Amino acid sequence: MTLVNRLRLGVNIDHVATIRNARGGRHPDPVRAARLAAEAGADGITAHLREDRRHISDEDIERLSREIDLPLNLEMAATEEMLLIALRHKPHAVCMVPEKREELTTEGGLDVAAQHRHLASYVERLGGAGIRVSLFIDPSPVQLHVAKALGAPVVELHTGAYCEANGAAREAELQRLIEAAAYADDLGLEVHAGHGLAFDSVGPVAAIPQIAELNIGHFLVGEAIFGGLDSSIKRMRALMDQARAGVSGAESA
Ligand code: PXP
Repeated sequence: MTLVNRLRLGVNIDHVATIRNARGGRHPDPVRAARLAAEAGADGITAHLREDRRHISDEDIERLSREIDLPLNLEMAATEEMLLIALRHKPHAVCMVPEKREELTTEGGLDVAAQHRHLASYVERLGGAGIRVSLFIDPSPVQLHVAKALGAPVVELHTGAYCEANGAAREAELQRLIEAAAYADDLGLEVHAGHGLAFDSVGPVAAIPQIAELNIGHFLVGEAIFGGLDSSIKRMRALMDQARAGVSGAESA
């Protein structure tokens, strides 16, 4: 089993752009947020360029590529338009996600089992350009199996169902994540996870030993309203580190 000691934190800055776009103009600037995230201990910056450009813009991606030293993880749908943008900027990583115009956020994982023919050429062309390809999938053995067959080196497990559930249902969703992470590792895939994570839900996911990276956005940006981005990232980082080190009580910190 691969034991990943240092759990990386990718800070997703999409919703800084959501607030900016509520009024147009340039404030608050997601690139400034990315700089602050780097200072607060983020290991990477994640941004989702959506087809409808509802938050992150093409110019944001250009500036993030040019001005930020941390690795950029570009989330995108598998379309030719997005592929060309990724090939132009060559981010460190691309995470392929499902996208529906009418959804508020990425609602479920990519169904790689149903779409493997469509996805294969994207994985190949991005990987061929030296970009690390990750597939955002539900924690299911079938999806993992197909992700491996597609040749993607990384999977990101969707934690939304776990975060939204309570009590026994949350435990069951956590178990699915634990089993999926172990199976992905057996297949030789690097495992990331994310979506919906917050202070009270991050601990058990961060404690899953095969997970190498968490990508967290909405909660960090929301929490920044009350205590600042620096403080929200540092607290998340501390909770992740405590959980990874096996310190109990991470959820109540
Ligand atoms: N990972 C992926 C692949 C995502 O699409 C998102 C949302 O854009 C996240 C992580 C972060 O989710 P949240 O903003 O809920 O923390």
